[in-house]
Amino acid sequence: MKAAVLTAVGAPLEIQEVPISKPGPHEVLIRTAACGVCHSDLHFREGHYPTRLPTILGHESAGIVEAVGSEVRTVRPGDHVVTCLSAFCGHCEHCLTGHMSLCVEPELQRPADQPARLGDADRPMNQFLNLSAFAEQMLVHEHACVAIDRDMPFDRAAIIGCAVLTGYGVVSHTAKVRPGETVAVIGCGGVGLAAINGAAIAGAGRIIAVDRVAGKESLARAFGATDFIEASDGDSVATVVELTRGGVHHAIEAIGLATTAQDAFAMLRRGGTATIVGMIPVGQKLSIDGWQFLAEKKLQGSLMGSNHFPVDVPRLVSFYQSGKLRLDEMISRRVGLGDIDEAFEEMKTGQIARSVILFD
Ligand SMILES: NC(=O)c1ccc[n+]([C@@H]2O[C@H](COP(=O)([O-])OP(=O)(O)OC[C@H]3O[C@@H](n4cnc5c(N)ncnc54)[C@H](O)[C@@H]3O)[C@@H](O)[C@H]2O)c1
Ligand SMILES: [Zn+2]
Ligand SMILES: [Zn+2]
Repeated sequence: MKAAVLTAVGAPLEIQEVPISKPGPHEVLIRTAACGVCHSDLHFREGHYPTRLPTILGHESAGIVEAVGSEVRTVRPGDHVVTCLSAFCGHCEHCLTGHMSLCVEPELQRPADQPARLGDADRPMNQFLNLSAFAEQMLVHEHACVAIDRDMPFDRAAIIGCAVLTGYGVVSHTAKVRPGETVAVIGCGGVGLAAINGAAIAGAGRIIAVDRVAGKESLARAFGATDFIEASDGDSVATVVELTRGGVHHAIEAIGLATTAQDAFAMLRRGGTATIVGMIPVGQKLSIDGWQFLAEKKLQGSLMGSNHFPVDVPRLVSFYQSGKLRLDEMISRRVGLGDIDEAFEEMKTGQIARSVILFD
């Protein structure tokens, strides 16, 4: 199968033929139909986060099940599925206490003494985040995908797998926004726009979007923002505090910068919560005024929106089908597998919401 391979940090992706193994007892072979390009892929390509090379990036996909292992009960060949990097074992402490997106049990990967899922003995390929979706086929653990309604278009299904699951989840699961509360979302890319949409679904009061690109205003408003602040215009913290007469109940950072994470904390009202979903490069630290904890402000992280993806993804599909979740507007461009580097360059400008790779 063809795949976009990363061989060195910062290098362009190379389209190569990569062998793929057959499903083991708990594995599923998927024919990839569509895959979104997420900023997290770019962080790994640029070395802001480490990953073992060579690898195939990509983790926001949908496709059709081609074959399943002998023990797989959750999906069957022909099923349309959305994948999720939050593979879970189902029996560790995280899974049993409802925090399955924190599961890191080694059984989700193949043991080192077995042939790799991707590549061959001469050149084993490291699987990226349990998936490696910039490829015509994926071989994944059965708990890394969920079946969806076959009427759901693949391109829109794919972006649920990371951006939407994360943006919706950070609001509903991690921050637990209550009706009427005020929410600021810093960064209006795929994740931030989905967080704005999630806040609207949760019944938030004022939803304030912040981005440095002025062109994001109309998109942010279409997703449910009531206000938009162009970050480059000045101090977005002061503007948020003024607009809300004292600060927001929730601030969501969806960029991945230490400065905007600090801003998220600074724009909270007393008792408010800042949730950082952006991936801040490894090694960077935040600086926060310690006395602010006396105002009972809270600072927390969110991994993949603290999802329960086998439950969340079908619900998000039905939210789309009933018009509550905006996915059509989130896809700015549809591209081919060979266009990923170009999509990364466009992503760096902040002008687009999401590029989605379509496979034939
Ligand atoms: N925690 C998780 O589980 C998780 C999951 C998915 C993505 N992420 C991370 O979330 C972040 C957002 O991902 P994305 O795919 O939506 O990214 P994106 O590149 O599509 O969007 C980022 C947005 O931030 C804006 N921006 C950049 N710098 C800014 C600044 N200084 N001030 C204001 N706005 C600014 C850009 O204009 C753009 O609209 C990334 O760091 C990504 O790695 C984290
Ligand atoms: Zn992602
Ligand atoms: Zn587990």
